[in-house]
Amino acid sequence: MVMRYFPMAGVSLLAALVLSACQSQQASPLAGVWLFGKEVQDFPGVRMIEIKPQGDGYTGTMTTDWYGPMPMKDLAVKDGVATFGIFNGNARVPVKTWTARLDGDKLHVTGEVWYGKLDNDAVRGSQADAEKRRFHLTALPPYAELKPDGLAQTPPMGWSSWNKFADHIDDKTVREIADAMVSSGLRDAGYRYINIDDGWQGQRGADGQIRPNSRFPDMKALADYVHGKGLKLGIYSSPGPKTCAGYEGSYGHIQQDAATYAAWGIDYLKYDLCSGEAFYQSAQQIRASYQEMGQALRATGRAIVYSLCEYGRGDVGSWGRNVGGHLWRTTGDIEDKYQVMAKLGFDGNGSPQHAGPGGWNDPDMLEVGNGGMSVEEYRTHMTLWAMSAAPLLMGHDLRNMDRQTASLLENPEVIAIDQDALGIQGQAVRKEDGAEIWVKPLAGGAVALALFNRTDKPLSIEFSAKDAGLRQLATLRDLWAHQPLVTDTRHITLPAHGAALLKVSGNAL
Ligand code: GLA
Repeated sequence: MVMRYFPMAGVSLLAALVLSACQSQQASPLAGVWLFGKEVQDFPGVRMIEIKPQGDGYTGTMTTDWYGPMPMKDLAVKDGVATFGIFNGNARVPVKTWTARLDGDKLHVTGEVWYGKLDNDAVRGSQADAEKRRFHLTALPPYAELKPDGLAQTPPMGWSSWNKFADHIDDKTVREIADAMVSSGLRDAGYRYINIDDGWQGQRGADGQIRPNSRFPDMKALADYVHGKGLKLGIYSSPGPKTCAGYEGSYGHIQQDAATYAAWGIDYLKYDLCSGEAFYQSAQQIRASYQEMGQALRATGRAIVYSLCEYGRGDVGSWGRNVGGHLWRTTGDIEDKYQVMAKLGFDGNGSPQHAGPGGWNDPDMLEVGNGGMSVEEYRTHMTLWAMSAAPLLMGHDLRNMDRQTASLLENPEVIAIDQDALGIQGQAVRKEDGAEIWVKPLAGGAVALALFNRTDKPLSIEFSAKDAGLRQLATLRDLWAHQPLVTDTRHITLPAHGAALLKVSGNAL
């Protein structure tokens, strides 16, 4: 190689050498790579800390299993102690102050993020160790819009394991639920999807392919069994490295996972942001990450209903369809409590103009039959979901269902409101002192009219033809009682937290 002399370059090289000598003289012994052992808490699974001098100060990263590399916010290094903040991308999780303190040749680190605490020692590592532990980030795809594929022309109906079983779910239970779906008559009432939520995942093989855990010995055989019953099988994953219950997510394996699901015969995917919230914080990034899986599912060529679960962030209803989604959660998680269900269903279920054939606002799965609400409250739950054209995904144990639960879920006249071909999401036309009147126009010109008593005392609710957008009420039918009402009925008395669901007809206003 011919050495040439560049005077200016020589000066700047000299300056750089002087600067770096100063820095290394001043660099705190905290600078460098610090490694944690396996004893640290699984959440968020802190593996490594790296602190580097930068300019007058320092920059640092904490590498975790859940959230990948997390930048240290406001890192300050002074007298052998570093303080910094850690943010997991969730605005509701406050950023707390962490400390890293030298203790002999170890670094003692304490801090909290969400429910994860660290109070552990790290040992010094090399750059080579750092490379081995470094989290491999992957790029998001460029913006694209997927065309409609014709699935989910009416809101999906089925069952999901989460509300009743959480992650205590296995092959045997799923088969028994499929059996009960048929024997109870629920399949023939329209409930077709049997969805395994979080908790089926095992580890990835050396080829990167996801394997189910030991509770699911053969996913393909399970899909065959479910299909043999005239039902469809759903599964669950996350765009992050970990799902919400801490199982393996799809980060870095999106196309491979979509292909695996298709090969197993999966018909439905719920894709839950979970740990992905640290990677994808802006609406554009969240959208791109859901688009990536939407494209991967399409590329399989299999008809797979795609359920977006990112809790309504970034105005998901305005782009859910464009990323291939057929339903999108609009809210946080439902609980088997009237107040939680009511908050989601009455007040939180997105913008009705986003819903319609092929794409639905999803206020979360049903709790009917789980025991935490009264029969009247469950009737309200079902009425509200039907009026909202919400997906009807049951969440109870179908193997032990009492008659009252079955009659709430199987009522064909109520299901017909939810599944109406126009696909209009109903909405409140009047709200007064705890009384709400909701209207949902139906195919053929009739109107579903729901009355709700949100108070904890009985209430008589008055309604009119005008509420339904009609000139007069020519016919009225009570869909829970399965009988007509006399045409001059204008009041209905509802129990505390109760609901009535009517189908009315007349000339339009
Ligand atoms: C999130 C979702 C729930 C459920 C759990 C599983 O909380 O919102 O519906 O899927 O994760 O861990």
